[in-house]
Amino acid sequence: MGTIGWWKLFGAAFAGILFFHGFCASENAPNYTFMHNATSAPPISYYDYIIVGGGTAGCPLAATLSQNYSVLLLERGGSPYGNSNISNLAAFGASLSDLSPTSPSQRFISKDGVINARARVLGGGSCLNAGFYTRAAPYYVREVGWDGRLANESYEWVEKVVAFEPPIKQWQSAVRDGLVEAGVVPFNGFTYDHMYGTKVGGTIFDQDGLRHTAADLLQYANPNGLTVLLHAPVHKILFRIKGKPRPVAHGVVFRDASGVKHRAYLKRGPKNEIIISSGALGSPQLLMLSGVGPADQLKAHNITIVLDQPLVGQGMSDNPMNAIFIPSPAPVELSLIQVVGITQFGSYIEAASGANFAGGSPRDYGMFSPKIGQLSTVPPKERTPEALAKAVELEANLDEAAFKGGFILEKVMGPVSTGHLEILTRNPNDNPSVTFNYFKEPLDLQRCVQGISTIEKIIESKAFSKFRYDVITIPALLNMTASSPINLLPKHANASTSLEQYCKDTVMTIWHYHGGCQVGKVVDRDYKVLGVDALRVIDGSTFNYSPGTNPQATVMMLGRYMGVRILSERLNGDTQNN
Ligand SMILES: Cc1cc2nc3c(=O)[nH]c(=O)nc-3n(C[C@H](O)[C@H](O)[C@H](O)COP(=O)(O)OP(=O)(O)OC[C@H]3O[C@@H](n4cnc5c(N)ncnc54)[C@H](O)[C@@H]3O)c2cc1C
Ligand SMILES: *[C@@H]1O[C@H](CO)[C@@H](O)[C@H](O)[C@H]1NC(C)=O
Ligand SMILES: *[C@@H]1O[C@H](CO)[C@@H](O)[C@H](O)[C@H]1NC(C)=O
Ligand SMILES: *[C@@H]1O[C@H](CO)[C@@H](O)[C@H](O)[C@H]1NC(C)=O
Ligand SMILES: *[C@@H]1O[C@H](CO)[C@@H](O)[C@H](O)[C@H]1NC(C)=O
Ligand SMILES: *[C@@H]1O[C@H](CO)[C@@H](O)[C@H](O)[C@H]1NC(C)=O
Ligand SMILES: *[C@@H]1O[C@H](CO)[C@@H](O)[C@H](O)[C@H]1NC(C)=O
Ligand SMILES: *[C@@H]1O[C@H](CO)[C@@H](O)[C@H](O)[C@H]1NC(C)=O
Ligand SMILES: *[C@@H]1O[C@H](CO)[C@@H](O)[C@H](O)[C@H]1NC(C)=O
Repeated sequence: MGTIGWWKLFGAAFAGILFFHGFCASENAPNYTFMHNATSAPPISYYDYIIVGGGTAGCPLAATLSQNYSVLLLERGGSPYGNSNISNLAAFGASLSDLSPTSPSQRFISKDGVINARARVLGGGSCLNAGFYTRAAPYYVREVGWDGRLANESYEWVEKVVAFEPPIKQWQSAVRDGLVEAGVVPFNGFTYDHMYGTKVGGTIFDQDGLRHTAADLLQYANPNGLTVLLHAPVHKILFRIKGKPRPVAHGVVFRDASGVKHRAYLKRGPKNEIIISSGALGSPQLLMLSGVGPADQLKAHNITIVLDQPLVGQGMSDNPMNAIFIPSPAPVELSLIQVVGITQFGSYIEAASGANFAGGSPRDYGMFSPKIGQLSTVPPKERTPEALAKAVELEANLDEAAFKGGFILEKVMGPVSTGHLEILTRNPNDNPSVTFNYFKEPLDLQRCVQGISTIEKIIESKAFSKFRYDVITIPALLNMTASSPINLLPKHANASTSLEQYCKDTVMTIWHYHGGCQVGKVVDRDYKVLGVDALRVIDGSTFNYSPGTNPQATVMMLGRYMGVRILSERLNGDTQNN
């Protein structure tokens, strides 16, 4: 009882501190003279580069290209600045639970039944995410064919602005030591590098708990070379076809918030390009809306076919996440992802802790709250709006003590299971239909089971003894009820305590979905769209596998990397032509 009272006091004090941080955040908004609402844009304009999507890849790319060329960056969402839901670590989930059309987050539910989210804001997913920052492994960089040195320089360019060392407190320390006891060794200390063992990774939250996003990378931009338009959803890419050996992208159509249509075209110049950076859902969707995609699908929507490309929208994957909530007798800090265990068997183990004070309520499971669509107490296909509403209500009525504790999660590497994406309407603001086929491949399921087994070892470790109730056994922990109905095993005919079934029934997303415009299938190794000219795709939709333990560092790196490569190729090409 004593500890509960203490926790309440701690919570109140903490909420006060966090409010103060929210206030600071809006003071820190940069002075971006190049950022405007699309409503103020002329009906027609001309640029050397047009980038569609001001997200995690689009911002560093635009900043880099603006150094020497005129660049238009079109983002369908608004500005992240001045919004403490975005800037505050403690507000994690506030945007994800805001389902209004102006929310920086747009919810979608895959055909698998798992509730998910995509960004709709300048800075993209880096404005919504859990902040963990970690590079891809050198072997990943080699396999993809990136230049290792330029990749490293690009990571450093990103890190100067957005990456920090997190403060490791009691819960994260216990997870770190528990991972080592469970055999996830060696301990590699604090590092951005991806290597086997346990490490403390970077974060885009600074020491004050303030988020730094990909939009902050626009401070590298040449303000005379860049125009950023907000609330500017692109409806289609325009192609020149007549008299050309292949379709040539030469312009885009976007609408402003008043519904007025604008067109932007490439200036005449053989090397000017349109670059799509609309994310793993947005990029394949926009290609299809522009006539590049599977012919039968385009025909069904009366879209004029520019290029029959059956592989657009194929190879969609989402890394399955499964988690266990561990109620703690000792108080824990508020933390998102900081420590990670990188196992040899292809499962990554991470943790989060503390109640989340978003919306002023200490009754919230944060990264695992039904408010943001995370619901593992019913199997994926039963996660209906009613089931979700019921879980939200239940959460609101629980005793505060039920939230004391933390989560240990595991995420499956790769994954090897893949799915597909189809458009449902011709409106780019509508979600396409997506299927990820979680655990379709047995290897993914095996990795999940090994991951959960390792989490059990962490819970049973000496390092964790202060943060678990001795009376709770592991099977009971995997099927909690009265105090905290969170790991409750879904009830159905096949319900069993097998870990295979636990993985399938409680699968959630860690939002690392990727694919749809994969290298070798839709784009070449230079990210040029196959079969057309003057068009590239540069973002997470091009990945065959999710890089590192978590992807955002590599998505930002890729934006910078390709910007530098495009500039230098052009510089060399221009010199040769002279
Ligand atoms: C809740 C959450 C937690 C996560 N946690 C982590 C984490 O801790 N660590 C980590 O590394 N990764 C994390 N991720 C994943 C990571 O943030 C994403 O992989 C990454 O942001 C994807 O970048 P992207 O550039 O491919 O797409 P995005 O960043 O989504 O960018 C796409 C942009 O294009 C815009 N757009 C789309 N269509 C159009 C159009 N037609 N016209 C104009 N604009 C358009 C969108 O509004 C968006 O801003 C998380 C993601 C989420 C959502
Ligand atoms: C922002 O920059 C403009 C142009 O350089 C300048 O006029 C303005 O005073 C600046 N505003 C702030 C708040 O620094
Ligand atoms: C950018 O432009 C300047 C001036 O024209 C030129 O000297 C420089 O080489 C260019 N750099 C790149 C990377 O294109
Ligand atoms: C912040 O999130 C809350 C909860 O989802 C929402 O009601 C509010 O409108 C959001 N505020 C902003 C500025 O987006
Ligand atoms: C890039 O940096 C990593 C460490 O982060 C290092 O292991 C690797 O060798 C470097 N690659 C090159 C080509 O310098
Ligand atoms: C820009 O447009 C959006 C959407 O119409 C609106 O909410 C916002 O207030 C506008 N901002 C400015 C600075 O005009
Ligand atoms: C496509 O066009 C046909 C003929 O004009 C029309 O009947 C059909 O409803 C249209 N389909 C869609 C999805 O717009
Ligand atoms: C239950 O098992 C049957 C037979 O193996 C399978 O077809 C079905 O999908 C399973 N249901 C769930 C919810 O796992
Ligand atoms: C989980 O707990 C509930 C409620 O105590 C019980 O009815 C159910 O049988 C348990 N499930 C398993 C698989 O142990």
